[in-house]
Amino acid sequence: MDKTIELVNSIKDIQAMPSVIVKTLNLMKKPTVSMKELGDIVIYDQSLTIKILALVNSAYYGFSQQISSINIALSLLGMVKVKNIIVAVAMKPMMSNAGDKELWKHSIRVAAGCEYLASLTKVMDADEAFIAGFIHDVGKIVLHTSNPKMYNKVISVVNTENADIQEVERHYFDSDHVKTGSLLAKRWQLPILLANIISYHHNPSLSSIPVPCSLVNAVDILMQDNFNPNRIDKDFLKTLGIDLDALEELRNTIRTKSELLISELT
Ligand SMILES: [Fe+2]
Ligand SMILES: [Fe+2]
Repeated sequence: MDKTIELVNSIKDIQAMPSVIVKTLNLMKKPTVSMKELGDIVIYDQSLTIKILALVNSAYYGFSQQISSINIALSLLGMVKVKNIIVAVAMKPMMSNAGDKELWKHSIRVAAGCEYLASLTKVMDADEAFIAGFIHDVGKIVLHTSNPKMYNKVISVVNTENADIQEVERHYFDSDHVKTGSLLAKRWQLPILLANIISYHHNPSLSSIPVPCSLVNAVDILMQDNFNPNRIDKDFLKTLGIDLDALEELRNTIRTKSELLISELT
């Protein structure tokens, strides 16, 4: 059997668990979703309700009044933001159970960065950019869960040798997080945008929708702990009108924003 299929099949939880996530992500495919449909997902999950209230009152969204009703919170945030929060919260245990606490934080940082740059440059819808950034590395859950020790080894090789992550993953796992993620996207029947992000965030030019993939690619590189400016697609950033001399500043802005979100969702 193909190694990628074998790896994804070996993680039973990942296929059965995310019904709330898949349900929510699939609501993105419907042109109209009622607030009730969304509210039904939230209202029966107490921790989700608490987190949404905390977030809507946090500096991340910056509403002026204190909000204590979940219905008001939902209508203030709007459908898409609520969907994004549901996915970010619901995926946290999956990402953290894999022993990889950094993966969830990295996903939130890339999500917040994509949302910020999309709203700044209008290159794509900011809410879609958030979820695109959040989901990009979902395939790492499969590799990490299947063998946490070996995946930690992958991370340390990537960090110490500044190596290409997919190459190191292939060396240890005979597959990589883009392959496992692409298979998950197919099994979960994710929307085309998200499937493309997962499959092409390391190679945006191969995608039929290169702009969103390039945005995630750029923010992903920007949010690496050992940020290497030579790896970032400067031509793409130029088309967005981003000042290439101020990348460190941009990095700090995104970090600060995402830490607000991380602390409210933790
Ligand atoms: Fe990746
Ligand atoms: Fe990443």
